[in-house]
Amino acid sequence: MDIKKRLIISNTITVLIPIIIACFTIFIFILVSSDIFHTDMNYQNFKKTAAIKSELLNSIKNISQLNPENIEDPEFQKYMHHKLSSINGELIITKDNKVIFSSKDVNKIDIERCLEESKSKLFSKPIQIDNTFYMTEVSPVVFKDKSVGNVLLLAPTGKEADTFKTFIITVLIVFFASFAAVNIFMSYLYSKRILEPISILKKATAEISKGDLDFEIVENGDCEIRELCADFERMRIQLKDSVRMKMKYDDNRKMLVSSISHDLKTPITSIKGYVEGILDGIANTPEKTELYLKTIYSKAEQMDAMIDDLLLYSRLDLNKLPFNFEKTDIINYFDYCILECAPELQKSNIEISLENNLKESKYVKIDRERMRRVIVNIIDNSRKYMDKKQGKIAIILRETASSIIIEIRDNGVGINKNDINKVFDRFYRADLARSETKGSGLGLAIAKQIVEGHKGKIWAVGHEDKGTSIIVSLAKIS
Ligand SMILES: Nc1ncnc2c1ncn2[C@@H]1O[C@H](COP(=O)(O)OP(=O)(O)OP(=O)(O)O)[C@@H](O)[C@H]1O
Ligand SMILES: [Mg+2]
Repeated sequence: MDIKKRLIISNTITVLIPIIIACFTIFIFILVSSDIFHTDMNYQNFKKTAAIKSELLNSIKNISQLNPENIEDPEFQKYMHHKLSSINGELIITKDNKVIFSSKDVNKIDIERCLEESKSKLFSKPIQIDNTFYMTEVSPVVFKDKSVGNVLLLAPTGKEADTFKTFIITVLIVFFASFAAVNIFMSYLYSKRILEPISILKKATAEISKGDLDFEIVENGDCEIRELCADFERMRIQLKDSVRMKMKYDDNRKMLVSSISHDLKTPITSIKGYVEGILDGIANTPEKTELYLKTIYSKAEQMDAMIDDLLLYSRLDLNKLPFNFEKTDIINYFDYCILECAPELQKSNIEISLENNLKESKYVKIDRERMRRVIVNIIDNSRKYMDKKQGKIAIILRETASSIIIEIRDNGVGINKNDINKVFDRFYRADLARSETKGSGLGLAIAKQIVEGHKGKIWAVGHEDKGTSIIVSLAKIS
């Protein structure tokens, strides 16, 4: 539920429920008072009582504003008595505890009762005099001679007058009490659905700002709050990813620096050695000098290739190299690859063949130049790590429902089980290769970056000492 809806519903409930409870109280009150106390709580009676009360209040207000001399004036007393006759009212005036005017024969005890009752103001009850209930209003007066007295107004009323008062007070109390209770309850619900999730969110943001990016933000509460939580959670995950990426890049940089320095150090040391040999005159014949220079040239070439690989790898790693994807017929592509590689491999006594298990021409979207680099790197490994007299490389093409699978299988030394998952890591070289063959350990790492740039997969399968398969899977297009 959204906050706007919740506010409308909660405000409506806060008003409606107390009204319903008050109506119910009115109903019960009328039922109980008529059935148990036998009072006639009808509208006419209520109207009549209200009219009497209003007339009495008006009259008493007029009297309280009068000059005290007028109160003792018999003309005024007559006028007042006449005025009250519309409600059968009576007028009694006392001075120094003596009755100086009374339109009705009332004894002193009853007058005292009236005076006593008038003190309770709001909760005053009708006074019963000679079997009739009277509503009373009293106004204290100070006469001209400084003596004190009271003006009493009495009007006959039904027994219900008292009940009406109790009724109104009860209904008001019930309404306000239920209003307060419903209000507290709705506020509690409101706070549970809105304030509680906000405080959790606040706690989470405080944790995140302290650097704890594992503090998960659980979606809770109303629609808007849930959306806010989801946005915060997305932000936390992105922040965590960027921190992880930064750490990864930092690690990469450190690793690159240490590997580069190590791998470049070896040829540079050799070059230094050979140059010193020439300078010191150890290469004292033209043949020896030529051999030294050729070695220096080959070491320099090795370093050049290594730097090229490094540049390519770091560009691929930073996603800085754009791919130029083209729809390509996979059989034609590999036919051409084999044609290109075969003469060079022939020199190393390696035979290369294509095993096509595709029934018809199949297409993939590839950057032909970069994919060529992948194939060259893989085939170059097969050549480098070949231990058989007659080397064999087979490129096997097959397909699954959604992919084209390219397997490049050789019959070389094979890869140790423990190394099989590590060969795609940059600078990783199995012990044998490290000791015997040239290379920087970037060939397969570059191949992996390129294949992943094609949204494909690459993995290796070892065939004990019978060889290795490097398998590439690419999405098939129609
Ligand atoms: N066909 C294979 N047969 C046996 N071992 C392999 C084969 N291909 C890769 N390897 C192992 O995997 C390691 C990593 O290969 P990768 O091509 O990444 O590096 P490299 O060949 O050593 O150096 P570079 O390719 O940079 O010149 C190699 O050092 C080698 O131990
Ligand atoms: Mg290699």
